[in-house]
Amino acid sequence: MKMSVIGCGYLGAVHAAAMASLGHEVVGIDVDPAKIEALAAGQAPFFEPGLPELLTENHDTGQLRFSTDVADAKGFAVHFIGVGTPQRRDGGGADLTYVDAAVRDLLPHLSPGDLVVGKSTVPVGTAERLAELIEPTGAELAWNPEFLREGFAVKDTIEPDRLVYGVRSQRAVDILDEVYAQAMSLDTPRIVTDYATAELVKTAANAFLATKISFINAMAEIAEVTGADVTQLADAIGHDVRIGRKFLNAGVGFGGGCLPKDIRAFSARAEELGRGESVAFLKEVDAINLRRRQRVIDLVKETLGGSAYLKRVAVLGLAFKPDSDDIRDSPALDVAVQLHGLGADVIAWDPEAVPNAGKAHPQLEFADNLEDVLRGAEAVVLATEWKHFRELDPVATKEAVATPIIVDGRNVLDPVAWREAGWTYRGLGRP
Ligand code: UGA
Repeated sequence: MKMSVIGCGYLGAVHAAAMASLGHEVVGIDVDPAKIEALAAGQAPFFEPGLPELLTENHDTGQLRFSTDVADAKGFAVHFIGVGTPQRRDGGGADLTYVDAAVRDLLPHLSPGDLVVGKSTVPVGTAERLAELIEPTGAELAWNPEFLREGFAVKDTIEPDRLVYGVRSQRAVDILDEVYAQAMSLDTPRIVTDYATAELVKTAANAFLATKISFINAMAEIAEVTGADVTQLADAIGHDVRIGRKFLNAGVGFGGGCLPKDIRAFSARAEELGRGESVAFLKEVDAINLRRRQRVIDLVKETLGGSAYLKRVAVLGLAFKPDSDDIRDSPALDVAVQLHGLGADVIAWDPEAVPNAGKAHPQLEFADNLEDVLRGAEAVVLATEWKHFRELDPVATKEAVATPIIVDGRNVLDPVAWREAGWTYRGLGRP
């Protein structure tokens, strides 16, 4: 099929490359010339495992092109909207500027029979509003939320665990089935529904995941005042298949470009709908999550005798999660910035996120590698659980630092091994 993908960020660039690898003819469109230039040269503008290979492969076959001109979408049958919906500057609601602009710019290039497919995460009711703009052109709108995780985005796009179509016609279903022919041939569950449900599926999924993480972090808070161990608690309750062990890792909490802004946007939308109380718990979910960042900072101060002032603190990790260079709402970066604000002599390193963190926070000092970040540290904070940090050897690491103090903000190290090697080890919700 011939399709355009409007918006080439984490979602759109991966979607465009994945669709091309499935045999479709794709044009990716974005207003950012630097991004388009990189993508057109077969280079990924951000770190995502597997994406560079897809870009090179499809670049060579000519299946995938990139452009800054939305007019290049003309003549294509399917148009995906994959632009960002960040948090508004003036509150918790979603900023729909980019979605609205993408649709408005696309309108003059639509032909009767085209299918516009919304993938961006939007407040419920948005699709209904956009359909009113699109339908007079003779084109149709479908809402098809995306559930990809950064770090696994390529796999999640090519082999999604479910497909959700918010549609108004059987024709839209048939077109989407053709788009996702490969996933359909693998018996991927497919839910065909209305716009509102499709929009809500996405919001509800992220709200549930955020709630699950904050639940276990709330248990960590209780564990901290009772001497219990939250990791053992998670293992034990996780054996109940109704609960499940996934997303029960207590630590410095969730961040990224999705969960934090999505729960805030959901609260804002529910309030607009007069149902604020239905999701009032999401404010608590957000508050628990943000408290965990403070807890890490408090542990650093405590282990340093009450103050981090002028102490050399090594922060391991800056991305919001491993296998990503994304620093949006990253707990790791927030901890580094806050410690710096308290007068600590912070040095940070991340395998991929240093360039992004340096642009956003030039006041921080960044190391070039793991050895440099550890050298002379008076306290170490493990803030993002990259493999490099999970596999640190407590004996060898002790040689590099000045004082063997570690705050394990992701509960990924073995407290026994680290204590036996002579470290002061502190986890979150662990005795
Ligand atoms: C999330 C959802 O998982 C995807 O399904 C969704 O498509 C995506 O948002 C989106 O809306 O686009 P992502 O932001 O890539 O994906 O990251 P997650 O893997 O969900 O992790 C989010 C945060 O939760 C990370 O900071 C991670 O460190 C944290 N986390 C995760 C925990 O603190 N504990 C856990 O047990 C799991």
